[in-house]
Amino acid sequence: MIERIETERLILRKAEDRDLDLIWERVWRQEELADMMLWTPTPTRGEAIERLERTKAYQRDNCAYFICLKATDEPIGFGGCREIAPGDWDETGLCIAKAWQGLGYGKESLRALVELAFRELGGRRFRASCFHENAASAATIRSCGFVYAGSGTETRERDGYPYLCDRFVLDAGPEYARRSGVTGRTVTVTVDRPLGSRHPEHADLLYPVNYGFVPGVPGGDGEEQDVYILGVDRPLASFTGRVIAVIRRLDDAEDKWVAAPETCAFTPEAIRAAVDFQERFFRSELIF
Ligand SMILES: CC(C)(COP(=O)(O)OP(=O)(O)OC[C@H]1O[C@@H](n2cnc3c(N)ncnc32)[C@H](O)[C@@H]1OP(=O)(O)O)[C@@H](O)C(=O)NCCC(=O)NCCS
Repeated sequence: MIERIETERLILRKAEDRDLDLIWERVWRQEELADMMLWTPTPTRGEAIERLERTKAYQRDNCAYFICLKATDEPIGFGGCREIAPGDWDETGLCIAKAWQGLGYGKESLRALVELAFRELGGRRFRASCFHENAASAATIRSCGFVYAGSGTETRERDGYPYLCDRFVLDAGPEYARRSGVTGRTVTVTVDRPLGSRHPEHADLLYPVNYGFVPGVPGGDGEEQDVYILGVDRPLASFTGRVIAVIRRLDDAEDKWVAAPETCAFTPEAIRAAVDFQERFFRSELIF
């Protein structure tokens, strides 16, 4: 179970006792938030205490989190997802408190959940849905690259309210990588295998390019994200540049990023040739 996810401005973490008053005030007692969702508002603090216990138990066994501001660790919402069939993930509710809506936190949270499912948990498809009239939710879902997959009438269990449910899907794979905006991103790479150095275990492997990792950005193998650096022909200790391609390995969990100085462009053939010293041991596709 992944206990905690960090994004640029948020931490998605498990509920704690000290969250009670803030999550109750900001989220659980807000009927306006519950209106567009399936959960029941919690009018009293006593009920909130019980709800927190239920929430803690649920979160212990599920990919469900309180969404907290990184700066203060205070909860401003909740979100989660679950695997409904092998590789097939469903968002189980995303909610941001009123005062923090419209600031990009919903999108940041949904992206984090998708990344969790696709990169950490082997997910291949992610589903999300919302009430047809929930423009903010549909916009948030679409802004993460989901595509519309149809609508259906459903009934809300708590009050028998009939609603039109719009459904969206996002598939892992080249399209996702492209839409998730890895390419084009500016990254700073710590170079631990400079050009000309040898692999620490395989002495016959000589690095013809600088190769390193992006501190703080997890890659598919649980380590930090690896990056090939093209367009610089001297050994480096650190490098800042643009991600120009993603190498998606088809027989391995890891993706590799390819970065280059802002001013350099490479054809797919040139990228392939530059990384062949290592990538020839894998089947892969190049994503731009
Ligand atoms: C839906 C919700 C999670 C969105 O979170 P948010 O933090 O307010 O949204 P963001 O600021 O991240 O915005 C994400 C995108 O949606 C757009 N958006 C946000 N609110 C919008 C609105 N009211 N109308 C249209 N678009 C809107 C933003 O412009 C942004 O698009 P962009 O990235 O293309 O610019 C949040 O409003 C919420 O919790 N609402 C109440 C509960 C709810 O409806 N949950 C969803 C149930 S499925």
